[in-house]
Amino acid sequence: DFTVVLKRQDKEFFVPAGQSIMETLEANGVRVAHSCREGVCGTCETVVLEGECDHKDNVLSPREKATNKLIMICCSGARSDRLVLDL
Ligand code: FES
Repeated sequence: DFTVVLKRQDKEFFVPAGQSIMETLEANGVRVAHSCREGVCGTCETVVLEGECDHKDNVLSPREKATNKLIMICCSGARSDRLVLDL
C-alpha cells in the first residue's frame, strides 16, 4: 500500500494492497483513460514525477521501466510510500 499523489489536480489517495492505482482513482471519482486494464495496451500510460514504480505491465521495455519515468496505472504500483503522478 502507498499514497498516490495527483500533482496537477492537487489530490492524494491511499492505495490499499490489492487495489490498482486506477481502481483507487475511479473509486474516488477521478476519470482516467483506460482500455485493457491488464498492462498490454498502453492507454493508461502516465508520467511519474516522484517515487519508485513497481512495474507489472507488458508495455514498457525493461529499459523504460528502469528509467522510472512512465507507469501503467491499471496494473503497476509503487515501491516507495508515495508516488507522484503528472495527473
Ligand atoms: Fe491498457 Fe493500462 S489500460 S495498459
